[in-house]
Amino acid sequence: MKTDDKVNILLVDDRPEGLLAMEAVLDDPGYNLVRAQSGYEAIAQLLGREFAVVLLDVQMPGMDGFQTAMAIRDNEKIRDVPVIFITAISKEERYVLKGYDVGAVDYLVKPFDPHTLKSKVAVFVRLFKKNAQIKTQAEELQRLAQELHAMNQELEAFSYSVSHDLRAPLRSIDGFSQVLAEDLGDKLDAQGHDYFQRIRAASQKMSELIDDLLSLSRLSRRKMRWEEVDLSRMAEDIVAELRRAHPPRDMKVLIEPGLTAQGDGNLLQIALQNLLHNAWKFTGQKEGATVEFGRMSEAPEPVYFVRDNGVGFDMTFVSKLFGAFQRLHDAREFPGTGVGLAIVQRVMRRHGGRCWAESALDQGATFFFSVPAVDPDGAGAREEASRSVLLAPARPL
Ligand SMILES: Nc1ncnc2c1ncn2[C@@H]1O[C@H](COP(=O)(O)OP(=O)(O)OP(=O)(O)O)[C@@H](O)[C@H]1O
Ligand SMILES: [Mg+2]
Repeated sequence: MKTDDKVNILLVDDRPEGLLAMEAVLDDPGYNLVRAQSGYEAIAQLLGREFAVVLLDVQMPGMDGFQTAMAIRDNEKIRDVPVIFITAISKEERYVLKGYDVGAVDYLVKPFDPHTLKSKVAVFVRLFKKNAQIKTQAEELQRLAQELHAMNQELEAFSYSVSHDLRAPLRSIDGFSQVLAEDLGDKLDAQGHDYFQRIRAASQKMSELIDDLLSLSRLSRRKMRWEEVDLSRMAEDIVAELRRAHPPRDMKVLIEPGLTAQGDGNLLQIALQNLLHNAWKFTGQKEGATVEFGRMSEAPEPVYFVRDNGVGFDMTFVSKLFGAFQRLHDAREFPGTGVGLAIVQRVMRRHGGRCWAESALDQGATFFFSVPAVDPDGAGAREEASRSVLLAPARPL
C-alpha cells in the first residue's frame, strides 16, 4: 500500500439510511467507503480486498452483527480486521459486547456522535497504515537479506573454485621448475640455482595462501552443529599439542577451568587454536612468557579472552588485523600467512558473536571473543549435524 492510496472502510447496515448516516460523517478524500447491506455481503467484501476497519450494525435481519463478527473471526484470512459495532446497546447487547472486549474491537452507541465515530475510525486507519508500512519494510528487509545471502553464496562459490583451480597450474610450476633445475644440474651457476629456488619458494607460498583461502571459504560453507563445548578442556589440549610439536619452552599457561560455551565444537576449536597459536608464536622471544585463557563476563554475552605478554602490536592498525592476509609483523621473524584472525572472526560471526583485540607494542596482546548464549539460527539448526570437518588441520607456526 502506498501512502497516498485510499484506505478501504466497510460500512455494514441493512438500512440505507444507516449507511447514509455513516457515509455523511466519514466523507474524507483519504477513505474509500464500501457498502454492505448484510453480514454475507460484508464477508464477501472482506474476502475481496483489504479493509482498515469494519463498521458493523448489530441489529440486522438474518445474520446479525455479532454473528457476522464471529464469522469474520473464524476466517483466518480476515480475522485481524478491526470491527466497530454500531449498537442500540440494549442489556442483551451489552452482555454480548463484553465477549468482544479484546483486540481491535470497539463499539458506538446509537445515535452515534459524529465526532466520536470520525476519531475512532481515524485511529484504526492510522493503525492500518502503520501496519502496512511495517509490512512493506519487513518485505523489503527480507528481500535484501535474500539478495545478500545469494550474493554471499556466489562469492563463496567463486572464491572456492578460483582457489581450487589455481592449485593445478601452481603444482606444474613447482614440479617443472624442480625437474628443470635437476636436468640442468651443473650447467647452472649459483645464481641460476638461486632463481629456481626462488620460483619454487614463491609457488609454495602461493599454494599456502590458496590453502588458507580455501579454509576460509569452507568455513562459511559448512553447516553448524550446536552443542555445549568445553572450552577449557579444548584450550588444555591445544596447548599440550603445541608443547608436543615444538622444542621445550619456559612458558606459563593459565587456563581458567570449567569454561563452556554453546556453539559448534569444531569451529570453536579452530578459533581457539588460532588464538593460542598466535599467543605461542608472538611470545616466542619472551623470557617468562605467559599465556592465559579466561572469561571476563557471563551470559547473555559471555566474553572469553586469550592474553599473552609477547611482542604485542600497535593499536593504530587494530582494525586491519581481522582481515584476510593482514599481518603486522615480519614473516622472517614470525612466519604465517595472516589468515588466522580472519578465521577467528568468521567463526565468531557464524555464532552471532564478535571478536576484538587490545594491545600495545612490547606489552603483550589480549584477544577477546564472545559467543552469545543463544543459538542465532534457531533450535532447528542444532539438529543439522555436520557430516564432516572440512577444515584443514592447524598450519605449522
Ligand atoms: N598474540 C599476538 N600478539 C601480537 N600480534 C599478534 C598476535 N596475534 C596476532 N597478531 C598480529 O596479527 C596478525 C594477523 O594474525 P593472524 O593470526 O591472522 O596471522 P598470522 O599468525 O600472521 O598467520 P597465520 O595465522 O595465517 O599463520 C599477525 O601477523 C600479527 O601481526
Ligand atoms: Mg595466526
